[in-house]
Amino acid sequence: MSQTSAWASPPHVMLIAGARPNFPKLKPVLDAFEARSCRTTFVHTGQHYDSALSGIFLDELGIRKPDRSLEVGSGKHGAQTARLMSSFEPVVEELQPDVIVVAGDVNSTVACALVGAKLGCLIAHVEAGLRSRDWAMPEEVNRVVTDRLSDYLLAPSADAVTNLEAEGYRADQIHLVGNVMIDTLLTNRARAVQRLPELRNQLAIDGRYALATLHRPSNVDDPEQLLPLLEALAQISADVPVYLPVHPRTRSTLGNSGIDLPDTLHLVEPFGYLDFLALQSQAAVVLTDSGGIQEETTALGVPCLTLRTNTERPITITEGTNELVGTNPARIIEAAKRVLRDGVEPRCPALWDGKAGERIADVILAGGPPAIRKRPTDL
Ligand code: UD1
Repeated sequence: MSQTSAWASPPHVMLIAGARPNFPKLKPVLDAFEARSCRTTFVHTGQHYDSALSGIFLDELGIRKPDRSLEVGSGKHGAQTARLMSSFEPVVEELQPDVIVVAGDVNSTVACALVGAKLGCLIAHVEAGLRSRDWAMPEEVNRVVTDRLSDYLLAPSADAVTNLEAEGYRADQIHLVGNVMIDTLLTNRARAVQRLPELRNQLAIDGRYALATLHRPSNVDDPEQLLPLLEALAQISADVPVYLPVHPRTRSTLGNSGIDLPDTLHLVEPFGYLDFLALQSQAAVVLTDSGGIQEETTALGVPCLTLRTNTERPITITEGTNELVGTNPARIIEAAKRVLRDGVEPRCPALWDGKAGERIADVILAGGPPAIRKRPTDL
């Protein structure tokens, strides 16, 4: 609570979460606003609704029950985004928040930002400025559009600031606040690590292990993309057992594939937040196509191989432990063998220090309503 508020009275802040990666981003921001006596409303859009992708995250992170649940469920992008918008609009009309905080790049993020902007709310985008420059990625469309709709561009790292400046955003809109996911990681790390002995027991992990995740549509929707990646993981598992918690999207492609995998590649149910953090923290290597895991491994000093051809988080390569290895199986196997042999040098970007949520609340409280006079159309 370092900065004074420019608001006549504390603003009513509405925070949106809908899909798994949103929950760890929401919690520190929600806490920071509540600590500053703001009225907060937590809206859960229900983009993810399974206990494994949603409920366990709320429980483990100690996030209160949502004030509003929109229960939009799954669907094609257009249909899901439309349902998000039509369910969210009456909530904003009724509760009239001053500020709507959206995070990341999921469909809930862009849908709620668009509704809120049209109803005259200030929009704050947590994780602004990340760019993969891959317009085929639905998340990239969501990021670019959400930034354009936002009054407060809350950047996690210096590269994101550079992207926003290059796109012409004004300096007074851009705030380098650090990484909220890392706030949550640092808060929960010790508690998570305590679970490791039991987890090792349950999963029969003895010694070193690798952890893998795959859920990007480009990697998992088509068996011709997915199966070579699994073959690569199978080969790596000859050196260290590999644990792959299977996302529902991946599960549905695997359903009919008839692929034969070795016992050393363990396909398991999705983990909750704490178990996954515990496993990441001691993995010999993490192989992933996730965005957030590239960041978490960097904060933990654990080697990460990203099975994509681009990343919106290059800072984890230049200032972290990540390496972009693409989707060629031979390259993935080579990189895994190298990293398992040599390890990586731990290092972490500036401001990934556990205080991003507090900086966000301070920026918004200090900014105050005058920002309304400078809508993004003033670019
Ligand atoms: C979404 C996000 C992605 C994020 C990911 C984390 C978008 C565009 N994508 O992708 O950025 O990294 O979440 O998991 O917003 N399903 C369930 N249970 C659920 C939710 C979904 O079984 O609780 C199934 C449905 O069959 C659905 C499929 O999983 O069709 C994919 O879910 P969806 O929300 O469409 O996208 P994700 O791939 O999870």
